[in-house]
Amino acid sequence: MKTLIKQDYSLENCPVTEKLFTATGFCRLTFYAPSVTTEAQPGQFVMVHMPASSGRYMLPRPYSICSVDRENGQLVIFFEVGGRGGELISTVEPGTTLRLLGPLGRGFPKPQAGSLLVAGGMGIAPLVFLAKSTTVPRTLIYGSRTAARMACPREDLDLPGLTVVEVTEDGSRGERGTACEIAERYIPSSSAVFACGPRQLLAALAEAAAERDIAAWVSVEERMACGIGACLGCAVRTDQGYMRVCKDGPVFPAGEVNLQDEHTECLCQSGGN
Ligand code: FES
Repeated sequence: MKTLIKQDYSLENCPVTEKLFTATGFCRLTFYAPSVTTEAQPGQFVMVHMPASSGRYMLPRPYSICSVDRENGQLVIFFEVGGRGGELISTVEPGTTLRLLGPLGRGFPKPQAGSLLVAGGMGIAPLVFLAKSTTVPRTLIYGSRTAARMACPREDLDLPGLTVVEVTEDGSRGERGTACEIAERYIPSSSAVFACGPRQLLAALAEAAAERDIAAWVSVEERMACGIGACLGCAVRTDQGYMRVCKDGPVFPAGEVNLQDEHTECLCQSGGN
């Protein structure tokens, strides 16, 4: 049954059509969610309700949309399993129906040629969707602590016009270093920066882009209860005062949001807690 709440998002019972652990502790769920896929844009998210069979009342959890197949109504979320909510959601099997609210929030602008996409850890989730949204020449820096935690399948990033630079802190895959260190080499020749990952990474990228007067957007997170701008529980400080991550973000111009606050991280870092 589908309940239309507002023109641009819907609450719908969506069957899980596929579940895959791409690496230990990293789960990719595909839903049949045609109402959400029709409107979804890169950088937006969905609130996923707990399985009814769990018999437990828990708030829904926010997940970045990792990709959509509009023709077939398929929507993918990709997350590191962590916290009670994420663990519960990762136990569902294909055929199980979960309630999805979305698409929610404001996403990324469309990348132009020469754009630099920077993903730290599970920040890769919304950037897969962004990378797939265009075929212009663009570069993705995908950073992780170790190869074992680099959970996004390589084939998901095998896209026309996309150059992928892998980097791990221990050098177990790709270049050795941090995503930020590698990104700083690419930023001067980039037309814009799009980033998702840990707060420290976002702050460093924002500063590096601003020094060169290059436009940058970051996807940030706060704990969310409603996901639709009603509870004011996800406020972050910006140049224009407090704004709601779920409604005014999660994507913000990098220079406008305060990335020094301890609790401001990208949406995908919550692990469904
Ligand atoms: Fe309620 Fe953002 S989660 S206002």
